[in-house]
Amino acid sequence: MVALASHYESIGGNPAVREVVEHFYAAVLDDAELKPYFDGVDLVRLKRHMVMLLCSVLGGPDGYKGRDLADAHRGVGVTGEHYEKVGGVLVATLRDHGAGEEIVGHVVTALGEVRGAVVERPAEAAG
Ligand code: HEM
Repeated sequence: MVALASHYESIGGNPAVREVVEHFYAAVLDDAELKPYFDGVDLVRLKRHMVMLLCSVLGGPDGYKGRDLADAHRGVGVTGEHYEKVGGVLVATLRDHGAGEEIVGHVVTALGEVRGAVVERPAEAAG
């Protein structure tokens, strides 16, 4: 029996994920509301960790070795509204790179699972 390709393989492996992450952060940093969150952040490290995380979410061979997401976002003050916005950018970027709806749905599920670790302020309290 032929093994089914993982989402990771079908999207094009590590090089494809790196490209997605590059375009994802370019779009996030191009958004005037989102950009200030990343002032002074080491973007090289951030992108490296996001590549690892996305690869592992998609079923790639290596695990995520960055900080725990709750630790990484503690004090960042991410609002629910901005979380949805960033999630939307990631989904749009995946689609731009040819990801099928099965992959998009899988990532959306993963986004739902980590939301509580990333968001600190409910949208109502944003300001
Ligand atoms: C959508 C789901 C999200 C995921 C999966 C995610 C993932 C990550 C990862 C992997 C890191 C790096 C951790 C490390 O370096 O060890 C990180 C850091 C960071 N994230 Fe997120 N993130 C998400 C949403 C957001 C949102 C919505 C914002 C702000 C609008 C945000 C702002 C930041 C900032 C500022 C850092 C750097 C913190 C620091 O280095 O001190 N993230 N995130």
